[in-house]
Amino acid sequence: MAVAEKLRLGVNIDHVATIRNARGGRLPDPVRAAEMAALAGADGITAHLREDRRHIGDEDIARLASEIGLPLNLEMAATEEMRAIALRHKPNACCLVPEKRQEVTTEGGLDVLGGGAALQGILDPIKAAGIRISLFIDPVEAQIEAAVKAGADIVELHTGAYAHAHQDGDAKRFASELARLQKGAELADAAGLEVHAGHGLCFETVAPISAISQVVELNIGHFLIGEAIFTGLEGAIEKMRRLMLEARRGQGASA
Ligand code: PXP
Repeated sequence: MAVAEKLRLGVNIDHVATIRNARGGRLPDPVRAAEMAALAGADGITAHLREDRRHIGDEDIARLASEIGLPLNLEMAATEEMRAIALRHKPNACCLVPEKRQEVTTEGGLDVLGGGAALQGILDPIKAAGIRISLFIDPVEAQIEAAVKAGADIVELHTGAYAHAHQDGDAKRFASELARLQKGAELADAAGLEVHAGHGLCFETVAPISAISQVVELNIGHFLIGEAIFTGLEGAIEKMRRLMLEARRGQGASA
């Protein structure tokens, strides 16, 4: 089984656009945040073009795809509209996520098992265009198996329930959610999938996830953009990277 030496950080810049959109206009510019993230050591940029365009917009995706030097991970719902956008801009990867209009953020993973021909019809042309396919799923064996069958390159394991358990101060639930993620990462890696993780991670929760040796990329946004208010974006990213790498090295040393 592959033990990943390297752990990448994808910085999600959606919430720079949330602040911009609160007033309209062009500032703060998410592309500037992406450039700054690159300077601070991010390995990739993640942006979620939601169907309601509540933060990132079409022009942001066009600029991110053409102006930044880092790989772009486009998070999107599995719809025909988003498929056309992905094929137009050809990001490095597309991460298919479930989307409900009323939700505050992405709640729960994609149902790949129940996705059937409709999901396959979105996924196949994107994959055929040479764009890597990532599926944002809960760490559930049946969903991992379905992701393999669907032809995904990557699964991103949803860390939202784990992050909520931490926020609620529920140590028992935190431990059981972490164990689910560890098991999910093992299963996905053994099935030949690249393993990513993300959602709701912060300085206090990033280390145990970074220590899961099969995980090669974390995608983190909301916390970093919030922390940037206090320490600047570069400072927030540098600290996150340091915590990730320390946890990964510690895991390597004890293995
Ligand atoms: N990964 C995926 C698939 C997501 O949908 C999101 C949120 O857009 C993230 C990671 C980042 O989550 P957060 O902003 O809570 O760090």
